[in-house]
Amino acid sequence: APSDPDLVERARAAKAKLGERVFVLGHHYQRDEVIEFADVTGDSFKLARDAAARPEAEYIVFCGVHFMAESADILTSAGQQVVLPDLAAGCSMADMATAEQVAECWDVLTEAGVADVTVPVSYMNSSADIKAFTGRHGGTICTSSNARRALEWAFGQKTAGAGGGKVLFLPDQHLGRNTAVRDMGMSLEDCVVYNPHKPNGGLTAQQLRDAKMILWRGHCSVHGRFSLDSVREVRDRVPGVNVLVHPECKHEVVAAADYVGSTEYIIRTLEEAPAGSKWAVGTELNLVRRLANRHADEGKEVVFLDRTVCFCSTMNRIDLPHLVWALESLADGRLVNRIQVDDETEKFAKLALERMLALP
Ligand code: 13P
Ligand code: SF4
Repeated sequence: APSDPDLVERARAAKAKLGERVFVLGHHYQRDEVIEFADVTGDSFKLARDAAARPEAEYIVFCGVHFMAESADILTSAGQQVVLPDLAAGCSMADMATAEQVAECWDVLTEAGVADVTVPVSYMNSSADIKAFTGRHGGTICTSSNARRALEWAFGQKTAGAGGGKVLFLPDQHLGRNTAVRDMGMSLEDCVVYNPHKPNGGLTAQQLRDAKMILWRGHCSVHGRFSLDSVREVRDRVPGVNVLVHPECKHEVVAAADYVGSTEYIIRTLEEAPAGSKWAVGTELNLVRRLANRHADEGKEVVFLDRTVCFCSTMNRIDLPHLVWALESLADGRLVNRIQVDDETEKFAKLALERMLALP
């Protein structure tokens, strides 16, 4: 549906009043009505970098989810304030790993004698606490666009010791497994899943010693719903279709797909695709719809991989009314919905984020 013209006008006016003082970032999964007001759009990696590259902006309005706003706060300078237009915009995956659970996991690894040879690698989609844990234990953050380089870096850190180096990958088991197996040639048997709801993660000390990848039992509630059947059905329905999915999908889905990558990769792949080609895309629906509209004129057919999968409900919390409210409040001198990470957490989380930014 077209946006309410009154709200559009108000968003424009508030943005104009703020001028250079505000910088609006929009993740690719945001609604069209919000993307329209973004100064820059991107995947998680690009947005983290762009937030850090705007020291002149007093306010960074982050149209995305909570962990992204936290990362922006960590990477921006002290005088800058990061605002999340709706505080309920969390991420169910990030919530699947708490600081207490991860500390307990590290104790389990220590008991099994493998903590010394383990490097944590945490997906951007995690709380600042988890990023701080990662930094404290010599690890790095990764996103879906640099997960392979992050893992290669991590394995390069600790190769000595019993059983060789290991990675504790948090919190998305699918991104961890897909990167290890699909991109780096490890086997499924090299990976074990640590379940924070079971004693010792549901693993024996021997399993921990034998594993190369210790995957946290977390997943994305949106991407986790694409199935092997989704892939088979779309191949039947659309002959000649190319299946393009995000690496947060399950391993069997990724293994059956033709192309796999981050949101930026998905966008680029469709841009470079020849006219007349057909694509089934397995990622968040706002982005897939936008891409379908964008490429329709060029004769590229873009369909949603599984019509029963819905929007990311927390990404969708940020809508035009919330954005207008945030911008008007800032323009009136009221700082609302500020996301601020405490100094101690920030110090170590920043270490982990900077290791990511320095990856080759
Ligand atoms: P990217 O944009 O980095 O691919 O991340 C996808 C995602 O799920 C963000 O929540
Ligand atoms: Fe979290 Fe998945 Fe939504 Fe991304 S798409 S914010 S990983 S729930």
